[in-house]
Amino acid sequence: MEIICFDEIESTNDHMKDLKDKKDWLVIRAKKQSKGRGRRGKEWHSEEGGALFTINLNKDKYIADEFYDKLPLLAGLAVLKALDETYRSEYKIKWPNDVYVYDKKISGILVEKVELGYIIGVGVNINLDKFGDYSEIASSLKLISGKNYDIDTFVRKVVLNMKDLYYSYIKGEWKLILNEINSFNYLKGKEVKICDGQKDIIGRVEDLDESGGLSVLVDGDIEIVTVGDIKIIENVII
Ligand code: BTN
Repeated sequence: MEIICFDEIESTNDHMKDLKDKKDWLVIRAKKQSKGRGRRGKEWHSEEGGALFTINLNKDKYIADEFYDKLPLLAGLAVLKALDETYRSEYKIKWPNDVYVYDKKISGILVEKVELGYIIGVGVNINLDKFGDYSEIASSLKLISGKNYDIDTFVRKVVLNMKDLYYSYIKGEWKLILNEINSFNYLKGKEVKICDGQKDIIGRVEDLDESGGLSVLVDGDIEIVTVGDIKIIENVII
């Protein structure tokens, strides 16, 4: 596995984007990022102590673009498994690909389409223990376990899991993977408000459907949500 590690760069996603002739599964890692990027144009706080890295996957010209729509979901599961292999706890996937532990976010993923394929940017809070203004909503391995971990070892676990999941997906095992993702569905049974850019949807979350979209029960009917900003209204146990 080739991992190129920098002490500090602006963003591992941006660095990967600029690289030419890159191989599948090349990893760019940074100990710190000065312009770490999150989804929907947000900033990703990137101090030392986080696993901050990007994996490259070139597109196969014989495979349709839509096939790659599942990459964020696969990456979320790869991170969750690496966390659990490192320190057993109750991790969940908040659709589409955030990883939560005890109702706080421990990892975020930013998959982007680039000229020749896809780059999978991963941020995981490992040895961080101070989140300032975000302390109500963010957690880390250190906060839940009281220990520090080797970040290189953690990154390798994620990449190995991602490869396993990706090849199993290529072999046609999507349903098995989907079942596993559903078993970690953080939003299941929660009342949510989803803004998809045009309208607000209010309903109760069920499983992810076969397309990887979120099934939401709205006034007795199931709606499949494929994009959107999700706010939890209240917990309903089902
Ligand atoms: C999110 O939850 O909004 C996604 C956060 C993704 C952050 C990672 S850190 C490594 C990679 N480089 C970036 O600039 N962003 C991703």
